[in-house]
Amino acid sequence: MGEWWYWLGHQGWEFVDFGKGFQVLLMGIFILWMIVVYRGIKPALIKKEPWNLPNWILYSVIGIPLLFLSGFVAKPETNFVIADFWRWMVIHMWVEAFFEVFITVIVSYLMVLMGLVSRQAAIRVVYFATILFLGTGLLGISHNFYWNAKPVATMALGSVFSTLQFVPLILLTVEAYRFKNMPKMAIGDVEHKNLGNFGFPEVFLFLIAVNFWNFFGAGVLGIIINLPIMNYFEHGTYLTVNHAHAALMGVYGNISLAALLFASRLMIKEQYWNKKVVNFSFWSINIGLMLMVVLDLFPAGSIQFKAVVEQGLWYGRSHEFVDYGIFNKLTWMRGIGASVFFFGGVLPLTWFIVSRLRSLKPTIDTIEQMDPINPIKKDQEILEPEEVI
Ligand code: HEM
Ligand SMILES: [Fe+2]
Repeated sequence: MGEWWYWLGHQGWEFVDFGKGFQVLLMGIFILWMIVVYRGIKPALIKKEPWNLPNWILYSVIGIPLLFLSGFVAKPETNFVIADFWRWMVIHMWVEAFFEVFITVIVSYLMVLMGLVSRQAAIRVVYFATILFLGTGLLGISHNFYWNAKPVATMALGSVFSTLQFVPLILLTVEAYRFKNMPKMAIGDVEHKNLGNFGFPEVFLFLIAVNFWNFFGAGVLGIIINLPIMNYFEHGTYLTVNHAHAALMGVYGNISLAALLFASRLMIKEQYWNKKVVNFSFWSINIGLMLMVVLDLFPAGSIQFKAVVEQGLWYGRSHEFVDYGIFNKLTWMRGIGASVFFFGGVLPLTWFIVSRLRSLKPTIDTIEQMDPINPIKKDQEILEPEEVI
């Protein structure tokens, strides 16, 4: 392919390993996404209330492509120290700062739309969580700089602030625990027995899963590889893979599915909604992910970690270690979780969504024509979370 390899194959870095063409394409898609979201929420943007929920969505949607620009700094000839710094500006700033803010906004938004919390209560949580996520996550980026020749002070700052990143995750978990019984409760004047009307319990499940993996995958499995002394030995082992998979699929995978199902629930005619398939997929995806963690990634990472401590990184990553013995057996065990995930989760959900293509509600022209599943009556008061509980 010659010159084209750089555009369509590999850019020449170990990690940024897709062709430049795809990176540019992704940037284009992000910009398109920004425009689509802006058009959608434009009527709800309130200029005098910059911290209103729709405004928050816009800020995160602008922040995400802005940070992706950093990914364009590295060229094959760029010094590694510089390239790696900008690479983390995308990875870390996305997943541990702006995506977390985006997720809190989206979860809160869905909760408001589902009539579970009041707008004011949601804004308060978003505001507080953003301060905590950005307050800890921005300097916390330095926990990724232990390995690219940064000064000692940077490492010290990184270890302290990144450890604090656990704080918002714990607080959000406490918050979610308070919310967990919500779909079972009466909201406003909706009677308990009529809660079939509530309509979104499956979406709510995915939101709970987002929180679970935020706590466990990002928080617990992230914190165990976080401090310099631990990271010194585990870097480059399956313990990073373990954390990365649990956090990325657990948090951002589940939130994407929640958003997709929320929209589908409103678009698909009620009688064609299949609660059983959605629930089955939900459990398969999350149990499958957990099985991958428990049967392979975590034990394999721990054994590899021990090998690195005792014999060195060269050995822990060598062909003899990775392709034979217990590490190899664990790699095969991963198939169990992956099969549950794929055959029980991905396939049925894909079938469900694709096969509903012909069961969509007719399109409408005006808001007045809308027939939401759980219309909140004008005079119905939405309770503050404290009052609901
Ligand atoms: C949902 C949130 C999170 C996601 C999706 C996530 C994802 C990832 C991914 C994909 C990597 C590997 C990147 C690479 O090597 O190119 C990584 C590395 C890392 N993460 Fe996270 N993470 C999250 C939150 C956290 C938190 C809260 C902590 C700790 C407080 C943490 C600590 C680390 C550390 C120390 C590394 C570097 C490991 C190494 O290579 O030595 N992460 N994370
Ligand atoms: Fe990070």
